[in-house]
Amino acid sequence: MLESRTFVNPLREGMRVARAPEPASIIIFGATGDLARRKLVPALYNLSRENYMPSVFNIIGFARRPRTDVEIRDEYKKAVNEFSREKIQDATWDSFSRNIFYVQSNLDDLAGYKRLKGELERFDRERGTAGNRLFYLAVPPELMPEIVEMLGKAELDTSEGYTRIILEKPFGRDLASAVELNQRLHRVFDEAQIYRIDHYLGKEAVQNIFVFRFANGILEPIWNRTYISNVQITVAETVGVEERGEYYDNSGALRDIIQNHALQLLAVTTMEPPPVFGPDEVRNEKAQVLRAIRPLGYNEIANATVRGQYGAGAIGGLSVSGYRTEPEVNPESATPTFVALRVLIDNWRWAGVPFYLRTGKRLPKRTTEIAIEFKLPPLSLFGRASSPEYAAFPGDDVRGRNGANALEPNSLVFNIQPDEGISLKFESKIPGQDNRIRPVNMDFRYNSTFGQAAPEAYERLLLDALLGDPMLFTRYDEVEAQWGFITPILETWQQIPPPAFPNYEAGTWGPAVADEFIKRDGHTWRRL
Ligand code: BG6
Repeated sequence: MLESRTFVNPLREGMRVARAPEPASIIIFGATGDLARRKLVPALYNLSRENYMPSVFNIIGFARRPRTDVEIRDEYKKAVNEFSREKIQDATWDSFSRNIFYVQSNLDDLAGYKRLKGELERFDRERGTAGNRLFYLAVPPELMPEIVEMLGKAELDTSEGYTRIILEKPFGRDLASAVELNQRLHRVFDEAQIYRIDHYLGKEAVQNIFVFRFANGILEPIWNRTYISNVQITVAETVGVEERGEYYDNSGALRDIIQNHALQLLAVTTMEPPPVFGPDEVRNEKAQVLRAIRPLGYNEIANATVRGQYGAGAIGGLSVSGYRTEPEVNPESATPTFVALRVLIDNWRWAGVPFYLRTGKRLPKRTTEIAIEFKLPPLSLFGRASSPEYAAFPGDDVRGRNGANALEPNSLVFNIQPDEGISLKFESKIPGQDNRIRPVNMDFRYNSTFGQAAPEAYERLLLDALLGDPMLFTRYDEVEAQWGFITPILETWQQIPPPAFPNYEAGTWGPAVADEFIKRDGHTWRRL
């Protein structure tokens, strides 16, 4: 199958057996919302453009707002024009869009779900979609239980083919609500039918962490507390809250990024090698390490977690307003838009290694990276620091006898986005008669090596769900472990008055306390 495509992604080879998805209906709840327009429909369009979609498929929007099939197709065309990674081609769009339909209904109206069922059965008969159904709940978590119950009542939980359900993140808003959502979900669907999305797992550079760690022999011996000094995981965004003020103000950076994306990046980086590269095995290992995260006590939450909120400032030379004046945000909001904290993992591999997680909106640069910093060699042997220019480097110092060069620690950085790659920083001799040294980088960049843009995370995840491969979706035990760590922080923050917000200017790297916080451990944030 793959051979007949225009290109073959070498990273895909060997990871799975190429299969074409069976004919299916994809039903999007929240079809007129932001996610459907920005991510889901562009992803489905690009899958179709690259011939990954089933030979027969229906995309059925299900939402409250009235739309005809023609109107929703027009609306989606505009969305694809605006958000697709590849420019829209009219002929491709026309053949793709003939498969898009719309069912208007309130989300709590059983009659609407029965109408949907009738439509799906008609499509199965007339178009040959064989009873295969993939429901996508692109709605806020509070709406999910009702939709799930309605699907059950309308007997849409099973069919002649497969029935799968994708739930957009966040899965609940704390531990208790996640437990409840899961129970209600399991009254209708089996775990094997459930796909909880964390789109960071669909990112090409995140999938490559599995390959980098487990397809190379040189790493395993050093991938532990003996050689690694600390790890920094940064998810930095330049955007503010855009049109999602209401959602975000109810959520904040800890729920929005740390609970899911950042902790999944941590899990992929720190998990044990699974015995087999399969969905159960990989998720067992991720769940295991997530459960080994040490819970934070009151004092640590009070004194060693950092909350920030942006005020007005400038990004890329453009003035931007402060968080509290964004549309639909409470003008006295105490919601953090920046969070930094330290995670410790209580297992043999990682005991004592600090993992620093930080995320923020309206930071100077969009970048997501995982930086592994290695311990320094015990002694610096290389000559006197003859030139002040190279005499001292930031970071931990190793001074040899007679004032030898200070060393900068080795670091291995996974650049997740936007410039995907991996780089290794090591010390090197500067050419010349002196023994002067300085750090240099060995760089692998996707762009220059593979010469092609990586597919969007949602493309990969939608295709996997159509293929019935849940490996890159989070299993409930992982989500529960993530909320188990995050919920006490949310609760404690509620008890302690928030810092005087806003405490960082848009376009800066977060509040000054974030620097002091990491400095107390003898480290500094990487300059990005
Ligand atoms: C989403 C968050 O899950 O991830 C957004 O809700 C955030 O607030 C987005 O902007 C970031 O995703 P990406 O793929 O652009 O890094």
